[in-house]
Amino acid sequence: MDLLIPDKTHDESRQGEALILGPATGKNNGRKLYIESYGCAMNFSDSEIVASILTDKGFETTSDFTIADVVLINTCSIRENAEQRVRNRLKEFTVAKVKNPGMVVGVLGCMAERLKSKFLEEEKLVDVVVGPDAYRDLPNLIERVDDGQRAVNVLLSREETYADISPVRLNSNGINAFVSIMRGCDNMCSFCVVPFTRGRERSREPQSIVTECTDLFNRGYREVTLLGQNVDSYKWKTTNKSSETDTQKQVLGMDLLDKVLASGEDFSGLQPHYTVEAGDVTFANLLEMVAQISPELRIRFSTSHPKDITDDVLYAIKKYDNICKYIHLPIQSGNSRVLKLMNRTYNREWYMDRIAAINRIIPECAISTDIITGFCSETEEEHQETLSMMDHVHFYFAYMFMYSERPGTLAAKRYADDIPDAVKKRRLQEVVAKQQEHSHERLKKLVGTTQKVLIEGFSKKSNNDYSGRSDQNTVVVFPVSDNYKPGQYVNVLIERCTTATLIGSPQTP
Ligand code: 5AD
Ligand code: SF4
Repeated sequence: MDLLIPDKTHDESRQGEALILGPATGKNNGRKLYIESYGCAMNFSDSEIVASILTDKGFETTSDFTIADVVLINTCSIRENAEQRVRNRLKEFTVAKVKNPGMVVGVLGCMAERLKSKFLEEEKLVDVVVGPDAYRDLPNLIERVDDGQRAVNVLLSREETYADISPVRLNSNGINAFVSIMRGCDNMCSFCVVPFTRGRERSREPQSIVTECTDLFNRGYREVTLLGQNVDSYKWKTTNKSSETDTQKQVLGMDLLDKVLASGEDFSGLQPHYTVEAGDVTFANLLEMVAQISPELRIRFSTSHPKDITDDVLYAIKKYDNICKYIHLPIQSGNSRVLKLMNRTYNREWYMDRIAAINRIIPECAISTDIITGFCSETEEEHQETLSMMDHVHFYFAYMFMYSERPGTLAAKRYADDIPDAVKKRRLQEVVAKQQEHSHERLKKLVGTTQKVLIEGFSKKSNNDYSGRSDQNTVVVFPVSDNYKPGQYVNVLIERCTTATLIGSPQTP
């Protein structure tokens, strides 16, 4: 059971959504592409890169997989249930393929590396398997399948950032867009499969990010979310090349895993890993560059890491009105021993210090988090420390999960997954109940205030209401009026709230 309070970066309602757009002008090859995505915003953003690569070859998208020539599923491995969902879906595609034998079925994304041989050879569920760094190869791989072969490319890269590919925007409202600023992850949190599925961390060239955001703004977009597994460690050097002597082991991050395994549990931690040299473009610098495109363009970003979020980043957020005062700062556990087992490289005091810095530098900033319950050997007292940390911070939102052991991770190699499911679940329920209280309290405090809202469209429940988000990322609903339309900012006086939504009326300009 995963429980979460939805926001834009991990939108549960979008899981498995088919992504469609109009045909590329003048390039129709007569073939239809169906693509659906699971997992985080990064994966949805990757699907836009894939669609861009394939529409450029003349593919047209469809929302009906039964009539598609190429069916792609962009997968997530983060927890076991995410994988199970994809497997069930692949079985449905196999049934459709019986009626439409020319159909090419492909698996993209995080499950590709781990399950390639299972999907391709053992279960024969798919024709093509493509990892997150090999999307440029998709047109060739599809051709190979057309020639009767099965095709696979799961090579990870230390350089690929797709910087030059301008993603098509799928299912877009024309107002919010995600922009990838980096790929991969070097953190080696012991529970997490991402370093193995998405490879080593690399940052995208900053000017290509600014160009993409400027282009979005010129096309009417009013909010960009800068995406990366660990945006605070964004760093561009003019010499940002990987070493030619890198082995595939290094590209896959297996050298990092060996290092952590060899170090036992005695990592020194508590020093930001993030070091800057003269001339580097840091995340704080990048934020400023994007903020300067226009004061009318809102900037969000996700995800921050407590070990790397510097005061410089906080001052950049403070300096620009258009950088939203909202930070997603996953804590995972409130107990220092568990954090150490998780290899998070910070402890409870360090996290509290970062919260204090945010509150000091940007007092109005909203903070959200991720929490895992029932990690290996977590005691009842340690779980209580997570709850007391929640009381300390009063997060605005949280994504809350039961620990799910992932094959190949540091935790799977080193620790027993020894907390019974019933205990994990009960702890999760306690965390969720507390979060609901805190979210509601946070919203109640906003009743009577005026919030600047970027209108995104009609509310989910009624075409008589508009819905948008406040600077601090809370959904705000208010009556439709001729004075405003989606894509505009409006000041809304908050009159009441539910547990997750603010409700109010627009102030006349
Ligand atoms: N089990 C449970 N939750 C996990 N997450 C990552 N890996 C696991 C796992 N093995 C959660 C973390 C992370 C979020 C994206 O997913 O909280 O921050
Ligand atoms: Fe995203 Fe992580 Fe899932 Fe991959 S495993 S799709 S990076 S959430």
